[in-house]
Amino acid sequence: MSSSSLVLIRVFFLFLCVSFLLVQGRLHSTYTELNNLHAISRISLPPSPAPEAVSPSYNTDSLSKVTVLNVRTFGAVGDGVSDETQAFKMAWDTACQVEEQAIILVPRSYSFMVQSTIFTGPCKSSNLTFQPFLSGVWFDRNEKIDGTLMPPDGPDSWPRNNSRRQWLVFYRINGMALLGGGLIDGRGEMWWDLPCKPHKGINGTTAPGPCDSPVAIRFFMSSNLTVKGLRVKNSPQFHFRFDGCQNVHIESLWIKSPAQSPNTDGIHIENTNNVGIYNSLISNGDDCISIGAGCYNVDIKNVTCGPSHGISIGSLGMHNSRACVSNIRVSDSIIKNSDNGVRIKTWQGGSGAVSRVTFHNIHMDSVRNPIIVDQYYCFTKSCPNQTSAVYVSDIFYSNIKGTYDIRSPAMHFACSDSIPCTNLTLSEVELLPAKGEYMSNPICWNAYGTMQTLTIPPAFCLLDGIPQMVQESDVGQC
Ligand SMILES: *[C@@H]1O[C@H](CO)[C@@H](O)[C@H](O)[C@H]1NC(C)=O
Ligand SMILES: *[C@@H]1O[C@H](CO)[C@@H](O)[C@H](O)[C@H]1NC(C)=O
Ligand SMILES: *[C@@H]1O[C@H](CO)[C@@H](O)[C@H](O)[C@H]1NC(C)=O
Ligand SMILES: *[C@@H]1O[C@H](CO)[C@@H](O)[C@H](O)[C@H]1NC(C)=O
Ligand SMILES: *[C@@H]1O[C@H](CO)[C@@H](O)[C@H](O)[C@H]1NC(C)=O
Ligand SMILES: *[C@@H]1O[C@H](CO)[C@@H](O)[C@H](O)[C@H]1NC(C)=O
Ligand SMILES: *[C@@H]1O[C@H](CO)[C@@H](O)[C@H](O)[C@H]1NC(C)=O
Repeated sequence: MSSSSLVLIRVFFLFLCVSFLLVQGRLHSTYTELNNLHAISRISLPPSPAPEAVSPSYNTDSLSKVTVLNVRTFGAVGDGVSDETQAFKMAWDTACQVEEQAIILVPRSYSFMVQSTIFTGPCKSSNLTFQPFLSGVWFDRNEKIDGTLMPPDGPDSWPRNNSRRQWLVFYRINGMALLGGGLIDGRGEMWWDLPCKPHKGINGTTAPGPCDSPVAIRFFMSSNLTVKGLRVKNSPQFHFRFDGCQNVHIESLWIKSPAQSPNTDGIHIENTNNVGIYNSLISNGDDCISIGAGCYNVDIKNVTCGPSHGISIGSLGMHNSRACVSNIRVSDSIIKNSDNGVRIKTWQGGSGAVSRVTFHNIHMDSVRNPIIVDQYYCFTKSCPNQTSAVYVSDIFYSNIKGTYDIRSPAMHFACSDSIPCTNLTLSEVELLPAKGEYMSNPICWNAYGTMQTLTIPPAFCLLDGIPQMVQESDVGQC
């Protein structure tokens, strides 16, 4: 991450922290005051509220003006059955017109059913806070559920004219936080069981045909975003997707769906840069975090994944596409009971490069492919061999320790036939069988790199030096 962008993020985040503490009740009198304001404005409301009438504002030393918009004052009922889409849209449109700081409040102790909605900017303020549930302590699994935000229940309840690819979308927003301790329930169960999903057709087949399922929360072409403290479960598809975004700070998320739920990536980013993902717990049926084409400057720290398919860069290069990913750092994290640990996956036939990636201080617990580069990624196992590939270089694996599932080798570097991987560095990598005996040696194919320290098991299969063809050609230009 460049130092200037870090500063930008910090400056922005500091401000959000202030507003967050404020609404969390650390400034207790202010918090009460806010609640009273709601109560008063709610009682005094006409049945069809005029937006101006429901904008309580007040002054403090730290904030010149905060407008709090409670979705219930816009007509949301909160019984978990009523369709609250219009109320949420009205609250959004009103917040979007506020010039200073606006908070959309989704209060606790209610459940809200909202249909697929695009919350569109640009908004006047770059200080918008969408706050589901002003409540509780994050990650406290014993707390009673305070409130829930959810979509219609399954494909049959999804309105025909709504997109089946996304549920809540934030589009063209600059400066927004999504915060709070509430629960977002994607109600994915019936989507996962559609006959078009893997092995869900008749007699365990996979039926052909379109199989769109909604991403729970998508940020699209937006910047200066904070997502913090939310609990999100059972998304029909990815839980979070960021595409075309800049300056994204993600912290203290709890994401959960079953290990067998198809395509339920925890956080997916693509064409997105300057991203921090911190202090989060993710268990799901696909990649814990996936990093797609066009991402650079991504910092992932203190994330616990599992069960999951691990932290993945890719898949890249599908349909002969070009992909550039660089400057990715994953550190101080745990991956457990997962199909993969840290993975780079590319399709044959792509172009571009993955470079400057560091995996540092990762604890593996019963992981099937703890360290893997797969440049032959393919859904069907029958993809034809092609001569171009996304070039993989400058990948640093350091202090990766723990146990692996011996059904697969601990390290697997399957690089492209035509374009080798170069400068793979292994340092303090120690992986022991979780159960049973050490079976197969690390696998390398066309993989150049070094062991800075002797790894366990030893990766003697890495090739020395830098191959001539990479030095001479212009592969991997990004
Ligand atoms: C948010 O609003 C405050 C004033 O309320 C302002 O000082 C600050 O610059 C704004 N932050 C951003 C990111 O625009
Ligand atoms: C879908 O149809 C309903 C009822 O006809 C309408 O109220 C709603 O605005 C439509 N939604 C979209 C996204 O077009
Ligand atoms: C499903 O399997 C059963 C038992 O093997 C068989 O009788 C039946 O014809 C199969 N159905 C289809 C649609 O293949
Ligand atoms: C993000 O916020 C910073 C600081 O408030 C601002 O300078 C920058 O222009 C914003 N980014 C975009 C893409 O608007
Ligand atoms: C790491 O994240 C967990 C939540 O998953 C949190 O409880 C813990 O305090 C974090 N550790 C550090 C050092 O920030
Ligand atoms: C593709 O190349 C790999 C590695 O050389 C080889 O094992 C595999 O059989 C080839 N596949 C096809 C379909 O030619
Ligand atoms: C190899 O990669 C490391 C990062 O892992 C980088 O610091 C170093 O400069 C690279 N070496 C070469 C020769 O490019």
